[in-house]
Amino acid sequence: MSILIPLAVAVHVISAIVWVGGMFFAYVVLRPSLAVLEPPSHRLKLWNQVFNRFFVWVWAAIALLIASGYYLIVAVYGELANVGLHIHLMYSIAMVMILLFFFLFFGPYRHYVEAAGADDWPTAGEFLPAIRRIVAINLALGLITAIIGASGRYWL
Ligand code: HEM
Repeated sequence: MSILIPLAVAVHVISAIVWVGGMFFAYVVLRPSLAVLEPPSHRLKLWNQVFNRFFVWVWAAIALLIASGYYLIVAVYGELANVGLHIHLMYSIAMVMILLFFFLFFGPYRHYVEAAGADDWPTAGEFLPAIRRIVAINLALGLITAIIGASGRYWL
């Protein structure tokens, strides 16, 4: 077996951990913890820093998930027609997640950054609920995708 196959699996799971784990930390741990920061503009400034850094890693994770995922399909299964239902579900849900991320990045996040750049924190704050909602949906989809990716071959 080619060394590239375990390497691609390693890249694949690390990318999934970075993206889905990052969303878990942001949504479940950081978001409620920031309630202690006053005034609210300090929270918005902190989110600005967090998004700017985290989203770079999300872009990298998306590129690596797609590259390693399609490489595995070709290298392990030969072609898409031979893969199990769990893999069809994995890349289909992943595509929804990726489209949602594009929407978030070029929509509410871009507006957030523009308002933050102008030091207009009340306007920036208006875009936070949309970002939070999309991250919540993507976190749920990401956890489901990870379960399907890792265990789906045994029950799907
Ligand atoms: C957020 C998105 C994704 C997550 C969380 C995810 C997660 C996982 C996990 C946890 C595994 C199990 C690795 C193992 O134990 O061998 C896996 C395997 C795999 N993934 Fe993904 N994945 C995602 C996106 C994708 C995409 C976009 C593709 C295809 C383009 C893909 C194709 C594959 C393939 C072919 C395998 C090997 C599965 C097998 O041989 O049974 N994944 N993925």
